Amino acid sequence: MSARVPRNIPVDVIRPYVVETPDPPRALDLGALFDPPGPVEVEIGFGKGRFLVTAAELQPERRFLGVEIRHVLRDFVAARLAKRSLTNARVMQADARIFLREIVPDSALRAIHFYFPDPWWKKRHHKRRIWTSQLFADFERALEPGGVLHLASDVDMVFDEMCARARERSGLREDRSAKLEPPCTTNFEDKAGDEGRVVGRTAFVRV
Ligand SMILES: C[S@@+](CC[C@H](N)C(=O)[O-])C[C@H]1O[C@@H](n2cnc3c(N)ncnc32)[C@H](O)[C@@H]1O
Repeated sequence: MSARVPRNIPVDVIRPYVVETPDPPRALDLGALFDPPGPVEVEIGFGKGRFLVTAAELQPERRFLGVEIRHVLRDFVAARLAKRSLTNARVMQADARIFLREIVPDSALRAIHFYFPDPWWKKRHHKRRIWTSQLFADFERALEPGGVLHLASDVDMVFDEMCARARERSGLREDRSAKLEPPCTTNFEDKAGDEGRVVGRTAFVRV
């Protein structure tokens, strides 16, 4: 995925949109990163940021924190947020697994958006797949009661395995009702639609 921060955007302009990853990792009060402070929704692996930027624009009353493993994408999306002055969204560079385990306090999140994780097709790369039972145990722990886990993928194997991992958690209950539909699509979702692939989408509520 190629993405470049426009050269004419100075570091000082994107800095307010970037949350530095605590090193060593430690729990952060995520709600306090925003003004006014309040409940936070996290997007895991935001890529070029279509969902994060559009959702923040459409829902100015909500707070969004995007977590992405690639620095270049963090800065690219910070520049997109800065261009639109979207102060209800921030981005952080981190491995989502460490972010959830070490940085997110219990019951801290109002929603988690987990869309189109890399399938890592080759057998020798399977260990890089992040939709593990551990990740879903961390999703369950991180969500507040009534909080929502949104899942989507255009790869049947990935979607089925994510749903199976979520169904293993007694604290998550599937809810496909339209009221939980997110406000917009992601870059990969649009690409799948353009290429005629079916997208699997569902949501689980923290009980
Ligand atoms: C296939 S892309 C999907 C991007 C976006 N969610 C979308 O639907 O357009 C997967 C994204 O997850 C990011 N990613 C992969 N492993 C990750 C990890 N361990 N923690 C955070 N992000 C990760 C990748 O860098 C990439 O941007």
